[in-house]
Amino acid sequence: MAVAETIPFPQNRTCPYHPPTEYRGAHHGDQPVFPVRLFDGRTVWMVTGHAEARSLLVDPRMSSDRENPSFPIFAERVAKSSLRRVELIGVDDPEHNVQRRMLIPSFTVKRTEALRPHIQQIVDRLLDQMIEQGPPTDLIGDFALPVPSMVICSLLGVPYSDHEFFEAQSRKLLRGPAAADVEAAREALDDYFRVLIEQKRTAPGEGLLDELIAKQLETGAVDHEQLVRLSEILLVAGHETTANMISLGTFTLLQHPDQLARMRESDDLMTSAVEELLRFLSIADGMARVAVADIEVGGVTIREGDGIILSTSVINRDENVYPAPDELDVGRNARNHVAFGFGVHQCLGQNLARAELEIALRELLRRLPGLSLAVPADEVPFKPGDTIQGLLELPVTW
Ligand code: HEM
Repeated sequence: MAVAETIPFPQNRTCPYHPPTEYRGAHHGDQPVFPVRLFDGRTVWMVTGHAEARSLLVDPRMSSDRENPSFPIFAERVAKSSLRRVELIGVDDPEHNVQRRMLIPSFTVKRTEALRPHIQQIVDRLLDQMIEQGPPTDLIGDFALPVPSMVICSLLGVPYSDHEFFEAQSRKLLRGPAAADVEAAREALDDYFRVLIEQKRTAPGEGLLDELIAKQLETGAVDHEQLVRLSEILLVAGHETTANMISLGTFTLLQHPDQLARMRESDDLMTSAVEELLRFLSIADGMARVAVADIEVGGVTIREGDGIILSTSVINRDENVYPAPDELDVGRNARNHVAFGFGVHQCLGQNLARAELEIALRELLRRLPGLSLAVPADEVPFKPGDTIQGLLELPVTW
């Protein structure tokens, strides 16, 4: 593979809602697939074209298998433990399909719609508390994180009283900072779910984990350790991502007062606004794959064993699909974005995430008409480029 003119990946955003400019292939003209360099010097392919991304994401020559030694690793802190098996998101079909089919019934549009009153109650209660306590506050700690955390806990049947523990472990799992932190977080979460699953076997409760224990574990369709790791994925994916979308989405709207005003004026815009924010923010920026055969795409040949990174943030700003892609337009039709991925691994929790985002943003804007940043925008700290994108704190007042 060509090694000239490669830029490093990942890079930090300079603005929390725009992709790093270099990801747009500054050195590669209009090429939708070009080489980038990882922390260890390895060169892998970066995909930034919408059409190329969608064709690659449904291509069976693209593998998600984390146990493949050629699977690309983004950060030194995960390199050490990188060959650990990752259920569902890290396995290929047909095995992936077996696992996914166990979970699909709990994430259908119908099941998610039935959860709306419960999500509404959670959002109302948190806003009541925040308003009673008064401004200023950190919107992440008081609202953006507890909403999805409470929702995923009740869906899974995990006690919310343990939230400080698992939120801290998720942070370490995703952001380290050291390899030892990542490893320790994995072990702590493994132990937590081993105990919880044993407790639930003797005293079943209500929730997806209880259902999986009864229908899948007891029948031998999954083993105990697989269920432990699946539970971790659901818990971590279920709260970290949506929390970042609620807080970064709020920040982005506050930075675009014209769009915020449109949303306040017309509740009908909420559905398209959520889709546009998902496109615009692309918080899961950098889906990884390894090629298991040669693939011709976008004028290059990806060889068997090559690593591939799909930059959702740049793909979702492809001007062939989205006119004026760098403008936030809450009324645009942003469907077909890849913020939730595409193909067989497309986000299992997307219906749930949409429902949470709609309810959380609608009520936040309705209940706090004077919502504003409590510090200058350039003082709001945000996450480094090698993890799920989002803010570290969001000081607000009203
Ligand atoms: C706005 C919030 C969210 C975003 C942006 C997001 C993004 C993504 C993306 C990009 C993928 C595909 C990864 C790949 O193909 O490599 C994915 C997969 C997944 N997401 Fe989400 N996600 C969100 C919320 C959720 C929620 C609430 C859940 C609930 C449990 C969830 C569970 C999952 C699972 C289990 C997968 C793996 C699916 C599979 O491999 O078949 N996500 N998500």
